[in-house]
Amino acid sequence: MESIQAIKGMNDILPDQIHWWQRVENTARSILENFGYREIRTPVLEKTELFSRSIGENTDIVEKEMYTFADRKGEWLTLRPEATASIVRAFIQHNLQADPLARKFYSTGPMFRYERPQKGRYRQFHQLDAEVFGVEDPMLDAELMYMLRVFLEQLGLSGVVLHINSLGCPACRAPYRSLLQTFLLQNRATFCSDCQRRLHVNPLRVFDCKVERCQKIIENAPMLLDSICEDCRDHFAAVRSYLDRLQTDYEINPRMVRGLDYYTRTTFEIITDRLGAQNAVGGGGRYDGLMRDLGGPDLSGIGFAIGMERLILLLQQQRSEPQRSPLVFLAILGDQAKQEGFLITQQLRSHGIEAEMDYARHSLKSQMRRADKLAAHYVVILGDEEMAAGAAQLRDMQSKQQSSIPLDGLVPLLKEIIRNGDATAAKN
Ligand code: HAM
Repeated sequence: MESIQAIKGMNDILPDQIHWWQRVENTARSILENFGYREIRTPVLEKTELFSRSIGENTDIVEKEMYTFADRKGEWLTLRPEATASIVRAFIQHNLQADPLARKFYSTGPMFRYERPQKGRYRQFHQLDAEVFGVEDPMLDAELMYMLRVFLEQLGLSGVVLHINSLGCPACRAPYRSLLQTFLLQNRATFCSDCQRRLHVNPLRVFDCKVERCQKIIENAPMLLDSICEDCRDHFAAVRSYLDRLQTDYEINPRMVRGLDYYTRTTFEIITDRLGAQNAVGGGGRYDGLMRDLGGPDLSGIGFAIGMERLILLLQQQRSEPQRSPLVFLAILGDQAKQEGFLITQQLRSHGIEAEMDYARHSLKSQMRRADKLAAHYVVILGDEEMAAGAAQLRDMQSKQQSSIPLDGLVPLLKEIIRNGDATAAKN
């Protein structure tokens, strides 16, 4: 019978990969909590309108990429393509404005976009998302990007660049829109069919087009950054000066428009050249009118999302292997030893030490091979002979040194050895 495969572009994350995910998630959790963020979890399924109203009807995401379907009662639902809209909805729905402590949120989980799968681009992918509501001060924009830098540094990621831009406010965007439209119309015939339509309905989206001939024309287009109003200019200058004070390097990229319509003022992306066509590891920005547009209070917003798969691909390329807790493997020889080894294994685990044993009476050689494969740091060799002598052999798999360790008090002694990182303490 033919076996059933996962859906194209949706990946299993297998146990041999999971430590990368756990490391990224744990680091994110500890840093974000330090910066005052609290976790929020929202459903993966929302009413379609939430995304079409926030991300924008004429964006690639809403036009082409959403998993949308009618449920049994004919209500239109969508698997979330991003987290921002859902978090804003939850904030409004639960009146979190009333709680002065609820301003900074983070979330991790799967997102869904019907894109053509390739390296770093999937149909189910995961984001680490952070959002802050009600703070207009440019200090926060800089703090958010600084936090991102701290997070990536802590993971040991190198070779990425922070790109920043300002998309202005609705007041400065309206005149720019006509300016851009006039320019685009002059080149109308050269654009791809998508852009020909976009230049009427949402001209800024032409910047997102991947078609080379469209990109070429856009190179000479007027830049929004040159047209922003004085208030937006001051805000952007302040963001930059705070970034400088926080010694956070950045490049200004006036062509970066982001793929979602809700942005205002500061926008940013973390860019890499090591993932082929997928050059953004993460991105975000301000969206000061979104909460109001979704029927909530008129509170400003800013946030970002990191693509977990892309981040992990980069970390793996760098081979910055995550630190694992040292594993203890119990190699067992004989029936009596197996009984004792079973108890020792459970005691080690209950003391927070990762431990594994052989349950299947393999030869010592094959047990040592397995310990090696599991990357065990220590092997406790326990045979009936050792049992009789009241001691086991402890092998440090890195230094290859072997010494005797008394069975009486073995667990606390092993704990101390692991803490000190050397097996000489075992010599008696
Ligand atoms: P976004 O730029 O659409 O922004 O996505 C953020 C990140 O998610 C991207 O930089 C990328 O790393 C990852 N990503 C996006 N699509 C895929 C895919 N198909 N496969 C793998 N990774 C992908 C947002 O989603 C905004 N909600 C960010 C934000 C939060 N803005 C304000 N707050």
